[in-house]
Amino acid sequence: MSSNLPCVFVTRRLPDAAMEIIHSASAAEVWQEEMPPPRAVLLEKVRAAEGLLCLLTDRIDAELLDNAPNLRVVSQMAVGFDNIDVAACSARGIPVGNTPGVLTETTADLTFALLLAAARRIVEADRYARSGAWQTWSPMLLTGPDVHHATLGIIGMGRIGYEVARRAHGFEMNILYTDAQRSEAAEQNFGAQFADLGTLLSQSDFVTVHTPLTPQTRHLMGAQQFARMKPSAIFINTSRGPVVDQAALYEALKRRQIAAAGLDVFEVEPLPLTDPLLQLDNVVLLPHIGSASIATRTRMAVLAAENLVAGLQGLPLPHPVDPAVTRFARP
Ligand code: GLV
Repeated sequence: MSSNLPCVFVTRRLPDAAMEIIHSASAAEVWQEEMPPPRAVLLEKVRAAEGLLCLLTDRIDAELLDNAPNLRVVSQMAVGFDNIDVAACSARGIPVGNTPGVLTETTADLTFALLLAAARRIVEADRYARSGAWQTWSPMLLTGPDVHHATLGIIGMGRIGYEVARRAHGFEMNILYTDAQRSEAAEQNFGAQFADLGTLLSQSDFVTVHTPLTPQTRHLMGAQQFARMKPSAIFINTSRGPVVDQAALYEALKRRQIAAAGLDVFEVEPLPLTDPLLQLDNVVLLPHIGSASIATRTRMAVLAAENLVAGLQGLPLPHPVDPAVTRFARP
């Protein structure tokens, strides 16, 4: 490996297809542990780095950037980037890349898996089948609501919301949605109807969230919002944990103000073993696996590698998050 290749830090080992791209264009140091690099290590590693490839478990903020005088690109292997202070990167002329598009359908699939699992009590039923409690076929055993022909409320009709709507349409669901913008495509293709949040919450049998985490969407779903939902309704979140006031959700589930939930994301991840949600039967809990198909995680890693290499070469990133800073430019 030639020593004049740019110095890069990669915060976790990625699939081979991505590592090959990274190694072909940089002198990369790759963190090999299962756990993310501790903060002090990350700050130390970026000191000489010209490129950083990070995950959503790494906090990229002004302090880190001030420790990284040579940094010319930050590439995140995720579509969400709420762990990155993008404004601080942009102010330093550093482009930030993410991995939109490639994970859309996989995440919509997982959303539907959670929705079906919560409605049809799949996890409870699996526990039951293994427990020895299964004595006979019983008329009302482990019954739940139907998914087909029910009303689904989609909060955020972006790429993932749209693919969830496509799946819901296949189940002949009625679709309500709320977003800053109307989606003509969702209205025409899937019969989705635009609604304000209050109407969506009060009329939906299932509510699913597909917004990015921003200061505006933090705790978008709180006690007041859960109070507007039907007692029979099921809430799904595969976006970001802090979009939901988790304590309020717990109360709503415990008091059966809503019937059930399916959650892939949490305010604190990993979900602490002391979290009261773990005591409830009417919630399905997943460890943030929305995009976790083999093909999709590989494509995300490759895209992150491509963003990184473009940034190192002074080219526009294929997927910059700030359209005003697509390539490095010293301010
Ligand atoms: C995963 O949560 C992602 O944002 O890609």
